[in-house]
Amino acid sequence: MDFAGKSIISIREMDKNSLLKIIETSNRVKNGEYKNFLTGKVLATLFFEPSTRTRLSFESAMRYMGGGVIGFSGTEYTSIKKGETLQDTIMTVSGYCNVIVMRHPVEGTARLASEIAIVPVINAGDGANQHPTQTFLDLFTLSELFANLSDVRVGFLGDLKYGRTVHSLAYALSLYQSPLWFIAPDLLRMPEYLTQEIKENGSRVHEVDDLERLEEHIDVLYVTRIQKERFGDMQEYERIAGCYRVTKKVVDMLGKDIKIMHPLPRVDEIAQEVDELENALYFRQAHNGIPVRQAVLGLVLGRLD
Ligand code: CP
Repeated sequence: MDFAGKSIISIREMDKNSLLKIIETSNRVKNGEYKNFLTGKVLATLFFEPSTRTRLSFESAMRYMGGGVIGFSGTEYTSIKKGETLQDTIMTVSGYCNVIVMRHPVEGTARLASEIAIVPVINAGDGANQHPTQTFLDLFTLSELFANLSDVRVGFLGDLKYGRTVHSLAYALSLYQSPLWFIAPDLLRMPEYLTQEIKENGSRVHEVDDLERLEEHIDVLYVTRIQKERFGDMQEYERIAGCYRVTKKVVDMLGKDIKIMHPLPRVDEIAQEVDELENALYFRQAHNGIPVRQAVLGLVLGRLD
């Protein structure tokens, strides 16, 4: 895939070569091979839903490399409050910038925006659907530790139903045919269509409803928060809230080399005592958001190839 001028909406439109391109470019950026390659470019961050890491790392990525940033976090002080449509907002903003990064609670909104905008749109999360740049930084972090992603045995724990980060990452790993374990209570299982696609791509998939029932060795446990904000029925949420928690004891049970990943934010699904262990990778993931998003911006804006 040639990224220049293209929108990035879903991992399901990517192939392995595109992912490799992102990983290799991120590696070169992290090694300091390029300076100020975003000078003269403007990024618009349009966040209709809360974010700490994705918005701030995109903005920081742009500024470190000489670019400018405009945007909003919440619509309170925008003309959307006066009734302006999403279509008019996107059309207007795309005349003020070179690239848009957008997060929206409704699935498919990033794609809709990409069809309207006259600049590339990068999906920063659309509802429970996809979060492609989180997957890029997850893959990049894995590639720093494992020579071959095809051999990495990854268990996904938690909200596999609504977790857009696991939807994107599990699909990406299926392009490498990595063996995957989906560990979730019945209410939070991975959507069937995705499990099917992942199997068709060549990954062996094992499903269990509890970490205790995991009988095989895994290399990575990718933990997710239960996405409270996506539940229509709060009683359903209350029934499963707190049903899994990764503690030092759990890490011991999984073996000394287990890597614990999490896209963050966490609530209580990983105990703070785990943070001090070398097994914990989640802040490394968050910090890798800078070189990875710099690479993405450089490629999409045609400043890196
Ligand atoms: N991982 C992630 O998307 O974090 P934020 O919601 O803070 O952007």
